[in-house]
Amino acid sequence: MEFNWPLINDNVSATDRQVLSDFILSGERLTNGPKVKEFENIWSDWLGTKHSVMVNSGASANYISIAIAKEVMGISEVIVPPLGLVSDLASIAQLGMKPVIVDIDMKNLAITAENIKNAITPNTKAIVLIHCLGFNGISDEIIKIAKDNNIMLIEDCCESHGATYKGQRIGTFGDISLFSFYFGHHITTVEGGIICTDNEKLYNLAKLFRSHGMTREASPEVQEYYQTNFPELNPLFTFAVAGFNMRSTEINAVLGIEQMKRLDYNIAKRTENLNTWLLSLNASKFYLDFDVEGSSNFALPLVLKEPSKEQLKAVCDILNEEKVEYRLGTAGGGNQALQPYLKFYNHKVEGDLPNTNYIHHYALYIGNHTELTSSQITNLCSKLNTI
Ligand SMILES: Cc1ncc(COP(=O)(O)O)c(C=O)c1O
Repeated sequence: MEFNWPLINDNVSATDRQVLSDFILSGERLTNGPKVKEFENIWSDWLGTKHSVMVNSGASANYISIAIAKEVMGISEVIVPPLGLVSDLASIAQLGMKPVIVDIDMKNLAITAENIKNAITPNTKAIVLIHCLGFNGISDEIIKIAKDNNIMLIEDCCESHGATYKGQRIGTFGDISLFSFYFGHHITTVEGGIICTDNEKLYNLAKLFRSHGMTREASPEVQEYYQTNFPELNPLFTFAVAGFNMRSTEINAVLGIEQMKRLDYNIAKRTENLNTWLLSLNASKFYLDFDVEGSSNFALPLVLKEPSKEQLKAVCDILNEEKVEYRLGTAGGGNQALQPYLKFYNHKVEGDLPNTNYIHHYALYIGNHTELTSSQITNLCSKLNTI
């Protein structure tokens, strides 16, 4: 029997839809307002940061975090891994910063402290650390490197809601962190994202960049500063930074508030699925030495032990036959440094990126759904182990 196992399940429940229709029919305003603020507060409490700013996608959160880094640190080099989403690199390139691309570690698919250290120049002002496919990528060493070198640390947690390092949620270690709520992630607002920080100044900047750069979005102190220093400008139309419109609607926030009720369950179930997955695959055929401590995966990674095109074809044949949807190269399609758009922008690739290229050519991922049973997972693993 085929599995019919999609990459992403529609995790908007009947109750979610009822809550959404009740809200829409209530006649409340639908543009960014009190529900967005309520969701931001719930998210900050859950994560353990002082402030959160909800936006319309994880990619928007990428752009705003880089815009903030540019505003605070100036035009500079930004160290970034090649395994992530296009927006991780494109935001840096498009905002006139220079992506410096360094290789990842096989055990957690994140950039290593050593690779970061080797890539630092006097112009390095930010690091985008991507917690890939739910694995924790942070370490004391990375935090220290950022601190010692006065480098802004941005944690991209779009694939890793609820992952932890030493028991503390990722997204609370960097100067800024960001999450995606695209459908199929740990929770969804259909489209949506959020930027989190403990820093008041960065929080104000996130609100400014989200909403055209308008000072009326920022704190009373920031508003007063601009009113005093720019008296000829209308306070309602004073633009402190060259901002975007990346606001969320109330509708997305209402869904987010409802979905938060099952976030911890989703994380626990998906972690259980990952453990079953890794225990059921044959270690002589698949790379299984991941550092799973504190992980919170939303996709199940499959990495060949040996660089064999034949084995990869055999894996794909099984998945196609069983109707299990997959993505080659894992996150974002693999090595972003190979993508055509980059050649239009000033960037630097550090070394040959052997680990990223291995993942690009010999790895894929499939969906990790809360509805999966352990026998579905073990049955699929048995078939995959036959390659
Ligand atoms: C690592 C990473 N960064 C950024 C994003 C962008 O998020 P979104 O799809 O909400 O724009 C994603 C998407 O899932 C992602 O995986």
